[in-house]
Amino acid sequence: MGFIAEAILDLTLFNNRRASPNKLFLRLSLRLSLLQNTTLEGLTISASGSAGSFDFDPAVFVEEKVAEIRSAVGKGRVAIATSGGVDSTACAALAHRALGKGLVCFFMDTGFMREGEVEEVRDLLSSLGLPLKILSVKDRFLKVLEGKTDAESKRLAFRETFYTVLGEAARREGCNVLIQGTIAPDWIESSGGIKTQHNVLEQLGVDTVERFGFRLLEPLLDLYKDQVRALARYLGARVNASERQPFPGPGLLVRCIGPVREEKVEVLRKATKAVEKHLGALRPEPKQYLAAVIEDERSPSKEGVEGAASRILPKARVEYLRWLATGVKGDNRAYGKIAIVTGGEMEPSDLFDLPEKVVHQDGEVVRVVYVVDGGRDKKTASRGKYAVIVRAVETRDFMTAKPSAIPLKVLKRIADKVMEDDRVSVVCYDLTSKPPATVEFE
Ligand code: XMP
Repeated sequence: MGFIAEAILDLTLFNNRRASPNKLFLRLSLRLSLLQNTTLEGLTISASGSAGSFDFDPAVFVEEKVAEIRSAVGKGRVAIATSGGVDSTACAALAHRALGKGLVCFFMDTGFMREGEVEEVRDLLSSLGLPLKILSVKDRFLKVLEGKTDAESKRLAFRETFYTVLGEAARREGCNVLIQGTIAPDWIESSGGIKTQHNVLEQLGVDTVERFGFRLLEPLLDLYKDQVRALARYLGARVNASERQPFPGPGLLVRCIGPVREEKVEVLRKATKAVEKHLGALRPEPKQYLAAVIEDERSPSKEGVEGAASRILPKARVEYLRWLATGVKGDNRAYGKIAIVTGGEMEPSDLFDLPEKVVHQDGEVVRVVYVVDGGRDKKTASRGKYAVIVRAVETRDFMTAKPSAIPLKVLKRIADKVMEDDRVSVVCYDLTSKPPATVEFE
């Protein structure tokens, strides 16, 4: 079969003066579109990296950064907010090495943490010799998020509240410097306009002294995830800490799609526990796995979408969920529809070509999720109102990702557990790669 193809190679050389004054970064993005013959249209391949990735020595890095932190801080006291994730844990251990008792560690309980997380983080930090001050501020977050449904405005409200609370706490402790573990992919994606990372401030021109009352120090700005893991291990963070699943700063908020309600977050917290238990037991373990929650309210899909989907899943029924989710198109942020697919029983890995078919028919779709259990047809009409989506991905650098081939029987086991909660009507598996989706939902 003949075809006409168009290839656009985009090389962007860029520099982040504050993050890495002496480095130039090269972003390479190849977009290949078949103009006739539809099978591959819209395929996007992108890659990104930095020369620094290949020669990282944690001992040299620590020596350099300890000196830098000491000279930047002088005699002042410094605050750090840690989430127990690898970036902030490595950063806290590094800052502690530089500052000792001059460092005050905060953990903010925003209401978007996983079950048992507060205790876990306290143990982890105390094993590194870092005492933790816990700020319990769940109600403040719920209040500012009330009535918001748009992903970006939720992220912005979260960020504003997070730093306002932190600024207040830091001032109470006499700190006017905040140290934080922002890493390279955070500011690269934020500068590229893909999404507001909760911890990216100065690179976007936010004056932290004027706005929140503290000066910011970010010693890990040049590092990528594998380097941060090496650093965490070098600094003695327990292996399970340095290998923990990535968990975003805004926590379960970015997995609570659309409006935020306490009940909805509670459903998500329970589903997260089931997903982490079952997928965490798989060998090999997927690189990242999570649950998300959304109202199970649907509308019909665009004409032609079901026909396209049925080329892969013969009895496919495709509808759209009520709220949108984030994605990437080329180098830009996309905010698009979630298509929910039912019909027949197939292994998810046999359905991995399905999103491409759907997205080709309707460019407004960024995600395709497949129902593994439940649905109005199967359960009684009294079932609950929430759809839970399981997501698991394989990735090297989180800039691109592929869905993990989780066996249907494992997903059904998860679904059985999740559906014990009457508030859940259906459990789905996300079949979408990044791009066009992102790993997180918002
Ligand atoms: P996305 O959704 O951008 O996720 O494909 C890529 C990786 O980044 C994590 N992520 C975040 N981490 N703060 C963080 O610390 C954030 O706001 C945030 N958003 C996404 C995500 O879990 C994945 O590992």
